[in-house]
Amino acid sequence: MIYLDNAATSFPKPRRVCEEQMRCMQYYCGNPGRGSHALSMAAAEKIYECREEAASFFGSSHPENVIFTLNTTMSLNLAIKGLLHHGDHVLISDMEHNAVWRPIELLSQRGIITYDVFSTYDPTRQRSAAEICGSILEKVRANTRMLICAHASNICSAALPLAEIGALCRKKGILFVVDAAQSAGHLPIDVEGMQIDALCVPGHKGLLGPQGTGMLLLADGLRAQTLIEGGSGYHSLDAAMPQDSPERYEAGTLPTPAIAGLLEGIREVRRRSIGAIFKHEQALNSRLTSRLAAMDGITIYAPHHVGSVLLFNLEGIPSERVAEELNARGFCVRAGFHCAALAHKTLGTPPTGAIRLSPSLSNTVEHVDAFAEAVAQIQICGGTF
Ligand code: ALA
Repeated sequence: MIYLDNAATSFPKPRRVCEEQMRCMQYYCGNPGRGSHALSMAAAEKIYECREEAASFFGSSHPENVIFTLNTTMSLNLAIKGLLHHGDHVLISDMEHNAVWRPIELLSQRGIITYDVFSTYDPTRQRSAAEICGSILEKVRANTRMLICAHASNICSAALPLAEIGALCRKKGILFVVDAAQSAGHLPIDVEGMQIDALCVPGHKGLLGPQGTGMLLLADGLRAQTLIEGGSGYHSLDAAMPQDSPERYEAGTLPTPAIAGLLEGIREVRRRSIGAIFKHEQALNSRLTSRLAAMDGITIYAPHHVGSVLLFNLEGIPSERVAEELNARGFCVRAGFHCAALAHKTLGTPPTGAIRLSPSLSNTVEHVDAFAEAVAQIQICGGTF
């Protein structure tokens, strides 16, 4: 199979990521922070090493503010439910994933918050940072407490200017929460430089780690309510969770082997370099866009944004049907709505969704050329397979 679904999860994982997980389970997998014996300490040290690596990778000088979660969705839920209060107003972008839209919609339906959606997308051209900030300012109210946006969309290559939005939020006293599900490991992120209050990151996508790993990087001094409570490894006689980060937010045993793998994933991204990774993905998508654009009956969405993700449709054939045919021809892609109702509405995809392709450094020019050939064959069949 030729894997072109890295926006869902990166595959294959680097060998060092796999080997370190195995090594952990064989040689140093005590329960981290639960006991003072050598194997518990060794596991805790490995986890702290990963916090340090992640903090430095994302420009934070506080490794203790790197909180491990299961995935980006959990990080976003912790930031949203842990930081918002009754009566707050929230701004979200028109390109959000359901991991933002659903918890925000739920809090709104419960009468806890109100929210508005600001516009970032233009179907004909890339909007400037000033235009995007202008559309945010139109929606800011006196009680706006938080702005949440996806750094990069999960259905096309549109990305938002974090530094400018961060500066605007700081000036207006608004908490800035970033969903980096598609950008971590693809685009540079500097939480302190970009004035990000909460960065929500997956371990299993661009950072090349295993599934079941995610992180929330909280700005120093920001304390959230907890999402779950339980054992934290210390202050065991207290009824309340500790005040200190990260223990306050990490109730229960952490997945040490997965975090050890994630550490190797981040190191691998550093070795390969973010710039080289993105340039390669961009080159493959640019080549494929030209090949697809030359065919009749193809719609490419947001073609003026060329990056890690490409979204298209074949006229008259439902996207899921095209994905099935691609699978039968040896290609892994994701079709439908990609858990991103708002973003699909913004791009104006039809009720049958669209086909998404997301290559990685493991893919080659030959892969995308073969993919274009397969799409052409499916188009000739016109849905009558
Ligand atoms: N959110 C992931 C995707 O876009 C799973 O496919």
